Amino acid sequence: MKPTIYIDRIIPAEVEAYLAQHCVIKKWEGAGPVTNEALIEGLRGAQGLLTSGTAINEELLAAAPQLKAVSTISVGYNHFDIEAMKRHSVAGTHTPYVLDETVADLVFALMLGTARRVGELDRYVKEGRWTGKEGSSLFGVDVHHRKLGIIGMGRIGESVARRARFGFEMEVAYYNRSRKQAVEDKLGVQYAELNELLETSDFIVMLTPLTPGTAGMIGREQFARMKRSAIFINASRGQTIDEDALVEALQNGTILAAGLDVYNVEPIDPSHPFLSMPNVLTLPHLGSATSQTRFDMAMLAARNLVAALTGEGEAYVVEELR
Ligand code: DGY
Repeated sequence: MKPTIYIDRIIPAEVEAYLAQHCVIKKWEGAGPVTNEALIEGLRGAQGLLTSGTAINEELLAAAPQLKAVSTISVGYNHFDIEAMKRHSVAGTHTPYVLDETVADLVFALMLGTARRVGELDRYVKEGRWTGKEGSSLFGVDVHHRKLGIIGMGRIGESVARRARFGFEMEVAYYNRSRKQAVEDKLGVQYAELNELLETSDFIVMLTPLTPGTAGMIGREQFARMKRSAIFINASRGQTIDEDALVEALQNGTILAAGLDVYNVEPIDPSHPFLSMPNVLTLPHLGSATSQTRFDMAMLAARNLVAALTGEGEAYVVEELR
């Protein structure tokens, strides 16, 4: 008998057609994000859930006792309550590998955009303020040949480091919970302790997954260690940094600029101080958001779900639940 699954968001038709070959599908078809009531109702009798970002917590798992597997269309899975999933024997899968190059492209967009003030100067031109008499007031800083510090040297970190080393001829240091000798040898990057990386890098890129150990890992003390000319990029999760401390560091000139794809609360509050700061480039959490990559992620998540429910094929089960 085919397992029943609930899909809590719109997915590409081709991915749904694949799932229909293996599962009985129930799905959310309302406008906007699924409501909690619809989710609980939809999960009644379902063994699988295909989602992205929906909190998988004790309350949800208790209300869905038949649930066997949750597949998220994302590499990050900080919305999984791992202990609750263990208690309820629910498998959790995610979508590594397929988005690495796409996210690395976006990290470079943030680096180049902040260094050369692309967002700010785009507005400057469009608002008709370009007089041709600006002198050096519109100058930015270089990216090429400068020093990049990567916090979190996973697969995406490696893709960023490759671009930096071979495209922009940058010096690259990284900080990670474990040392990556093979990456050091292959890419010519150096391991550094966190404080050393913070104190010596021109660009600091945050790529670490959000875990209890990384929550709030960059705060007032860490910003204070950075160069006054440093540019800080966050493409991990908003909660890995202390946002108030970042606002303060940018306002006080403790660092030069920031490029952000992620925030403590998403979507960001329209009155957030970041939105009125010219030295902050803000994007709406779309690191992996190209049509091709989002399709590949949805298809991988669908295959993960089928494999986790049927035992046929390989599923990318998240590390803590293997
Ligand atoms: C992920 O897959 O975790 C990314 O943050 C989505 O853009």
